[in-house]
Amino acid sequence: MSRLEDGFGRRFHYLRVSVTEVCNFRCTYCLPDGYRKSGPQSFLTPDEVDRVTRAFADLGVSKLRLTGGEPSVRRDLPEIIARVSATPGIDKVALTTNGWNLDRNIAAWRDAGLTNLNVSIDSLDRAAFQRITGHDRLESVVRGLDQALAIGVPTVKVNGVLLKDGVQDGFDAFADFVRERPVAVRFIELMRTGDNAAFFADQHIPGGRLTDWLQARGWRPRPRAFDDGPAVEYAHPDYAGRIGLIAPYAPGFCDGCNRLRITARGKLRLCLFGELGVDLRDLLQGDDADALKARIQAALVGKPRGHRLAEGISGDTRQLAQYGG
Ligand code: GTP
Ligand code: 5AD
Ligand code: SF4
Repeated sequence: MSRLEDGFGRRFHYLRVSVTEVCNFRCTYCLPDGYRKSGPQSFLTPDEVDRVTRAFADLGVSKLRLTGGEPSVRRDLPEIIARVSATPGIDKVALTTNGWNLDRNIAAWRDAGLTNLNVSIDSLDRAAFQRITGHDRLESVVRGLDQALAIGVPTVKVNGVLLKDGVQDGFDAFADFVRERPVAVRFIELMRTGDNAAFFADQHIPGGRLTDWLQARGWRPRPRAFDDGPAVEYAHPDYAGRIGLIAPYAPGFCDGCNRLRITARGKLRLCLFGELGVDLRDLLQGDDADALKARIQAALVGKPRGHRLAEGISGDTRQLAQYGG
């Protein structure tokens, strides 16, 4: 049972740890003006990730996701995965990646203990994928995903941002993609961040476009597990995979929030779109685990009820690359 509870009675079993702010993609919705370097780079070391993981595991976290930026830009990622997965209490080790060199890396990550893999694929059309990410790599990303399935990574998911361009073709293509593959494709409703206002105004469409499409074709929603992310996933008897929606603008989206975040610089972020958070770095560099746990528990009273995106407020979040999505 989690000993992490906020002022609204929500409990936290799921921690997202960003291991870098650097990304080698340039997704239009995320980094419209390129990567924004803020201050000298000193991202969490494997020892620091280890300390924060042990503290949260002691407090009842059982699922840990590594995010970025793009986590695979770190050469020591296999070591980080191995140390997280060896932590008593952690039974799911997840990674969110853009799929860069996935085909070459996935076996090492699986061997290090990775159980859950989320790969971002915004379009299955080669030219559109290149337009969105800045890289002509669709084929290699899909090869990496198929490799993950072939070597038995237990859970494989795809994230695609819901964009006005390409909706109808996109839904058809992704449904075909999951006909034989046991993969959950989750469309994420585009979120307005500090840096993407113009793009958002042009490309945001409500998630209802997808759920109407699904319902009309016999897809039905499934219940969420306690440590699931925010997606509502739909299943269909003729398809091996699922199609889901992450709808941050939907009423009540934050009521079921079950996760906390650690930034690549060691701050505890209470909400993806809140304030920059509580600095843990000094305690991540020492051995006082009790002080670390006490600071984490005390911070939770500050967790807001939810984000204020609908009012056009995105907090300190300029780009999701900076805080791990
Ligand atoms: P699983 O369902 O366990 O696979 O995890 P997940 O969906 O939480 O992980 P992933 O990193 O793939 O998240 C997908 C995207 O959902 C994120 O990159 C965000 O864009 C969005 N998301 C995840 N958590 C939150 C949240 O707390 N608030 C908001 N607004 N969006 C979130
Ligand atoms: N809105 C919605 N999703 C976003 N992502 C990055 N920025 C945004 C945004 N503004 C997604 C990426 C990736 C995941 C980690 O977050 O596409 O799939
Ligand atoms: Fe794209 Fe993710 Fe990199 Fe942002 S952090 S540019 S969404 S791959």
